Amino acid sequence: MTDSYSPESAHLEAILLVGGQGTRLRPLTLSTPKPLLPTAGVPFLAHQLARARSFGVRHIVFATSYRASMFAEVFGDGSAFGLTLEYMTEDSPLGTGGAIRNAAQALACGPDAPVLVLNGDILSGHDISEQVDLHVSRGAAVTLHLTEVDDPSRFGCVPTDEDGRVTAFLEKTPHPVTNRINAGCYVFQRSAIDTIPAGQVVSVERETFPGMIASGELVLGYADRSYWLDVGTPAAFVQGSCDLVMGRLASPALPGPCGEYLALEDSKVSPSAKISGGTVVGARAVVESDASVRGSVLDAGCVVESGATVVDSVVGAGARVSSGAVLRNAVIGDGAVVGSGNELLAGARVWPGVRLPAGAVRFSSDV
Ligand code: GDD
Ligand code: MG
Repeated sequence: MTDSYSPESAHLEAILLVGGQGTRLRPLTLSTPKPLLPTAGVPFLAHQLARARSFGVRHIVFATSYRASMFAEVFGDGSAFGLTLEYMTEDSPLGTGGAIRNAAQALACGPDAPVLVLNGDILSGHDISEQVDLHVSRGAAVTLHLTEVDDPSRFGCVPTDEDGRVTAFLEKTPHPVTNRINAGCYVFQRSAIDTIPAGQVVSVERETFPGMIASGELVLGYADRSYWLDVGTPAAFVQGSCDLVMGRLASPALPGPCGEYLALEDSKVSPSAKISGGTVVGARAVVESDASVRGSVLDAGCVVESGATVVDSVVGAGARVSSGAVLRNAVIGDGAVVGSGNELLAGARVWPGVRLPAGAVRFSSDV
């Protein structure tokens, strides 16, 4: 048991894993790391930071690698968020386990304290305090938040016994044995982090957790059914932003009231435009007359011209969707121009700065 830790006497410290390249979100992540993408009006991580703070976390160590310097440029020392933030950067990516071990050097707590570890691309409504309390009361080495999804093969599949003890950790297995998956939020004993080899590429999912289970350490699951989303794909990213704007997940970082849409400063929306489904209209963005925008993210300074239709899509900063163009489930990179009459559907992506001439792309509606 971890008698020496008292949640009343010490603030929980956290490590935030934000070193991934966000490959599945290209081209959005070519210039901006996934955790910094504008989501419901603020950088994605602002939601995670605010939630962690609401559960008593005050010191957070960012484990960075890809475009590391951008994180400090956005969040600084954290004082504006009521947090103390530090940045530990890997020279080359160390994997999730190597990153946790590297970042732990900046923790102040002793070996018997629990440490919160968060994947940097998750929106979760779960009760972090309950997860920590379970971890401490059962004296676990690590306690994983678990959630249920329809397709567990894309995640870490985590079976447990009737006492909540994790019996296996099967990362991205084609043969999942349960729909319960690793939700990407861990409570580690600090001493368990210290057993991860330093300065090496290590995966917690493929090495550390399976190793701990095999050697009989107590790895626990904390399962719940609260809101949960990994925003690692364009469709999920748009969904997450809309869910926050619509209030499906409460976030202390939301920069305005919940509703059909969130219009940021100096944006212009024509009275005849229809905007719904938790859309964000970014700062200085313009939505012209009779345009229809549903469930989308319009970044700063972009323009949706009159009569254009934008559904379940991202329009990057400074991009332009010309009159009569149609986007459904599309991603338009920063500064790109979609000429009039184009129809971009089903995962289409336009790279930053590209100009699609009028009528260049069209999908037949009966395909
Ligand atoms: N610092 C650092 N260094 N961070 C990293 C590195 C690295 O080398 N590699 C990945 N990360 C960070 C990513 O930025 C992300 O926040 C987190 O680790 C997880 O990486 P993803 O690339 O998003 O992994 P995933 O979504 O395929 O799978 C993970 O998350 C699932 C839940 O969403 C796994 O943990 C699965 O088991 C889990 O189910
Ligand atoms: Mg992920």
